[in-house]
Amino acid sequence: MFEVRPLQNPLKGTLKVPGDKSISHRAVIFSALAEKPVEISNFLAAQDCLSTVACMKALGVSIERSGENFLITPRPLREPENFLDAGNSGTTVRLLTGLLAAKNFFVTFTGDESLRKRPMARVIKPISLMGGKIFAHNKNFLPLAILPAEKLRGIIYQSPVASAQVKSAILLAGLFADAPTTVVEPYRSRDHTENMLAAFGVKLERDETSVKIFPAKKISAPEKIFVPADISSAAYWLVLASILPNSQVTLENVGVNPSRTGIIDILRRMGAEIFFRNEKTQAGELRADLIVRSAELRAVEFGSDFIPRLIDEIPVLAVAAAFAEGISIFRGLSELRVKESDRLAAIVAEFNKISPGSFVAEENNLIIHGRRPKNFSACKTLGDHRLAMALAIFGAAAKGVALDDHRCVEISYPDFFEALACVRAEQNL
Ligand code: S3P
Repeated sequence: MFEVRPLQNPLKGTLKVPGDKSISHRAVIFSALAEKPVEISNFLAAQDCLSTVACMKALGVSIERSGENFLITPRPLREPENFLDAGNSGTTVRLLTGLLAAKNFFVTFTGDESLRKRPMARVIKPISLMGGKIFAHNKNFLPLAILPAEKLRGIIYQSPVASAQVKSAILLAGLFADAPTTVVEPYRSRDHTENMLAAFGVKLERDETSVKIFPAKKISAPEKIFVPADISSAAYWLVLASILPNSQVTLENVGVNPSRTGIIDILRRMGAEIFFRNEKTQAGELRADLIVRSAELRAVEFGSDFIPRLIDEIPVLAVAAAFAEGISIFRGLSELRVKESDRLAAIVAEFNKISPGSFVAEENNLIIHGRRPKNFSACKTLGDHRLAMALAIFGAAAKGVALDDHRCVEISYPDFFEALACVRAEQNL
């Protein structure tokens, strides 16, 4: 058991949050398709992105690391000698399935216990419609095999889910199709793929919920890519600083792409004080320093239209709601059930140990009763990084928590507990 003790003091200072996970995956994958080497700085060297790095190396790409800088030297992709292991990373397997569908070699994917339970039919179906030959356990689960396809066809695909992984897989396959491919989503998901491919010279047409990609003969990457800090990792500190009285924290260079800032919009609706400074745009990605001050939070309600913009932040937002005045309702959380764990069930099972009766799931909605009494408790993280970090923030802001497996934060934020220890030691964050 790993114990997180309650924080006695406000949060003050400046905190460096690690690089964006979604952008790091894409930077490696897309750079490997370019013609010249690309240097990626502030890359997220956490397990998920390292799974992508390992897969790309097994496909023949040269990748050299020096701290948080990665140099990608493209080579023609070749058949890997063994299974590709995507570890815990849905982004790795889904994006690479799209990319590899058009190759004239054979690839098999597997992953860890959690990833082997996650649905893959959502990418297999559209890519099969394009002519890809993909086979999976029960047509939906890893292990998954990609066979050489004759030629991919451009399609118009109406996706039943708003998922950037699904959209990106189809767009990557579309790069190598015989005609343009269009993906239409129920709501717009994060658009890092579109932004980066456009910066790499690929022709795309976009409106609110659809993207059309034109096949590309040549991909010209910039020499350098800077990965902004991950707003999904910044979210833990946005919430903690909001609920710990008298706090003020600056988070530098955080990616504030509007398709990711749902957490800021909802926290502001709850009364949070969050400000942007030094806004900059590079390769279509907006970033800013975020300043957050503690505030009295009040309950909030939102629905499915908001979910894609804060999908990974729901667990920590549920913590914020537990400290807010009133009853919050988060609606339309079905996608939470197919993440690294069933996060909706996990929030109810584990968060209620800290604050009994606060969290109720009704179908795919989460109802949170704010300001109920909180206990010290032992909780399970289910090996899910975002649950582990949200539980740690919950415990730190309440009466403490003991976690059964805290190392799962390696997936997206390896230094999370060191950052929490710094906050506690009242050092310069
Ligand atoms: C991601 C998209 C989201 C998100 C995941 C990363 C991406 O998944 O939950 O952590 O990098 O495209 P879905 O697209 O399946 O919602």
